[in-house]
Amino acid sequence: MSGIFTKSMARNIFYGGTVFFFLLLLALTFDTNKTLPKLDNSANLTPQVIAGKKVWETRNCIGCHTLLGEGAYFAPELGNVYKRRGPEFIKAWIQSQPTGAPGRRQMPQFNLTNEELDNLVEFLKYSSEINTANWPPNIEG
Ligand code: HEC
Repeated sequence: MSGIFTKSMARNIFYGGTVFFFLLLLALTFDTNKTLPKLDNSANLTPQVIAGKKVWETRNCIGCHTLLGEGAYFAPELGNVYKRRGPEFIKAWIQSQPTGAPGRRQMPQFNLTNEELDNLVEFLKYSSEINTANWPPNIEG
């Protein structure tokens, strides 16, 4: 005899533990799948949002900015910028670049049409309304 468990006790702990944690995994997976549609804002995925995502991707905004906390850390998190400043400010900012905001850093002029700008802000609105439990924190600067 060595150790405090007999061989069969050790085996029961191993199988019991395996079954318990597998059931826990299943329960949490079902719970996540049930909750996700309420959080992901997919109800508001309009054609305009999808067109806006295309503008977002083709202009590589994420090469400098973050969205939902992901991307480059050169320029502000745009989901939070949408909540702080709203669509009109964002459209005006983009149109006024690179020289329209003295004293602030600049970004490229993308020559977007009004329709592309409207689609883009719809995409940012949609993204900002995904429930991420307030991540990343909306702190300016
Ligand atoms: C080459 C890097 C770069 C790219 C690409 C870029 N930006 Fe920017 N953006 C910046 C910088 C730098 C600022 C100014 C940040 C500051 O003043 O702190 C800025 C600021 C902004 C602001 C104003 C934020 C605020 O808090 O007032 C908005 C809105 C914005 N960008 C949207 C976009 C969108 C949408 C795209 C893609 C179409 C884009 N940017 C692409 C670098 C970039």
